[in-house]
This record gives sequence, structure tokens and C-alpha cells, in this order.
Amino acid sequence: MQFPERRLRRLRSTPQLRALVAETRLHPTDLIAPLFVRHGLEGPVEIATMPGQFQHSEASLLEHCQRLVDLGISAIVLFGIPAHKDAIGSEAAARDGIAQRALRALRDRFGDDLVVIADLCMDEYTDHGHCGILRLDGTVDNDATLERYAEIAIAQAEAGATIVAPSGMMDGQVAAIRSALDSSGHDMVPILAYAAKYASALYGPFRDAVDVEIQGGGNRRAYQQDPANAREAMAEIAQDLAEGADMIMVKPALSYLDVLAEARAVVDVPLAAYHVSGEYSMVVAAGRAGYLDADAVAMEQTLAIKRAGADLILTYFAEQLARQL
Ligand code: PBG
Repeated sequence: MQFPERRLRRLRSTPQLRALVAETRLHPTDLIAPLFVRHGLEGPVEIATMPGQFQHSEASLLEHCQRLVDLGISAIVLFGIPAHKDAIGSEAAARDGIAQRALRALRDRFGDDLVVIADLCMDEYTDHGHCGILRLDGTVDNDATLERYAEIAIAQAEAGATIVAPSGMMDGQVAAIRSALDSSGHDMVPILAYAAKYASALYGPFRDAVDVEIQGGGNRRAYQQDPANAREAMAEIAQDLAEGADMIMVKPALSYLDVLAEARAVVDVPLAAYHVSGEYSMVVAAGRAGYLDADAVAMEQTLAIKRAGADLILTYFAEQLARQL
């Protein structure tokens, strides 16, 4: 009888051979750790819906970042939870707002050793939980919101953010922020645009992490993208690049790998993907229930996101992955 062809299995026989021919490799510098800092905390508080993740005090944030730096992770994305929320999210742009205080402390402690990306949005700071200024009818006013984003960008850059990352999905936000940064002496601060950001149920645990309850139907479908649409994502990305984005993000990651792969095919700037809170919590919960090996699944999913085309991966597993790498 004819022997079957063994060409496809021959290079899989040992770990060394497999490593030699691996097309995709993960490195700690591919990973960006999302972190939360909360005004007025004495110490870290675990987030109930995201086991293993914490709302940090200013001090515990610095300690945590030191651990990440020691593991070879070079970037974080920072979210602030203010003491007081109001209709216009005042603390988001305040000089002594929680994010700005933490940005200053991080800059003092780590200098250029840590890339600190400031998430630029208002939902953590508004009492209605939306990413912008509301009109009387409860809808988000695009252009009034852009003015706030410009102020927040300047406050974050002044406080020492290495990169700002607008996540509110207002039309024209990248152009408004670029021009605000350029006219305030921050022309070297890059913009990582949450370009293709979907209205996803996978953000559920994050809203607990930042104490956000969204008024008026409890969703952001009037400004984030419809999960039904892929072509629209390419239009969002093209628009953000035209407005001056230095880097582009697709979010969430795993349910949108088609969008990520398509973005990779057309975009030359660095491409990031956000493995979001729900993606994290599903794996952690299944691991705790004994249904699967959470460490192995986290590694496989992260590798898949990189294989699909991401240069950078925002993931709550960053520390855990770096330990395994
Ligand atoms: C908005 C923002 C959100 C996330 C990051 N930035 C929440 C939202 O759009 O509702 C979600 C991140 C995650 O789920 O991990 N500032």
C-alpha cells in the first residue's frame, strides 16, 4: 500500500521544532495592561466581576506597575474612577482629577520606562454614564463632546501621559484632539484611536470596574458600532487615520477577528486589539469552575489575536501571560 504523506506532521514532533517554525510569537512588549485607579482608596479593591483585577489606590497602582515593568511589560492603559460624577464629567479634565494625579505619579516614578496610555473618555466621570455631553432629549451631543475631549487631552498630556487613547466614538474626535494637543505644545503626544469599537455586551464587567450605569436604555448603540457591520469598521479606521491617528484599535478582539484581519490588510500603522473585560471574565470564570485551563486558554486566545494581525494586545491577562512567557 501507498504510505500516507507525512509532510504536515514532520515539523511538529518536538517542542524545539515547533518553536523553530512558529509563525507567531508573543513577547511581553506586545502586551498592554489596562489598570484602574480610584480616587480616595486606601488600598487595592478586587473587582467582583473581574477576579484578579483591582481598583487601585494611587500607591498600589505604582506598586503594580513596578511588577509589570519587572516582568518586561512596557505599557499600561489607565482608567480613572473619580470621587464625584456629574453631568459634564468635570473631574476628567481637572488638573487634580484622579487620572491626572496618577499620570503625574507614574511619570515621576517611571519616567520613560513605562508607556502610559491615558484612556480619553467621559463615561467614568459622568453621572449618566454616557461618553459625552447630553442634550435635553438624552442623546449625546457630538460637537459639544469634542470640546470636552480636547480639554481632557490637554490635561492628560500636561500630567505626563505618553499616549492618549480616545474611546468615546464621537465623529471627529481624533482631529479635535490632535489640534488641541498641537496648539498646546504637545505635538509629540501620539493618539491611539479606538477606531473600530463595537457596542458590545462584553464590556459588562468593565462597567462594574468603573462604577458606570448607563442611563436611557443602558447602551451606547447610538455612537458605538453595530456588531452586524464590518465594512463600517474600515470607514471608521480610514477616517481616524485621515484625522491624524498614529495607531488604531479594534475592540473587542475575539468576536471581531475578521475585522482585525481586514484592518491589518489595509493599515500600515501599529494595530492594537482590546481583549476586553467580558473576554477576560469568561475565561477566568470557566477556569475557576474547573471547566478548562484558564492560563492555557488565555495564552491561546492572545496568540490568536496576534496571528489575526494585532501588533499590540490590551489584555487583563498581561501580567499572567508575561509570567508564562
Ligand atoms: C469607555 C471604555 C469602555 C471600555 C474601555 N473604554 C466601556 C464602554 O465603552 O462601555 C471597555 C473595556 C473593557 O470592557 O474591558 N471609556
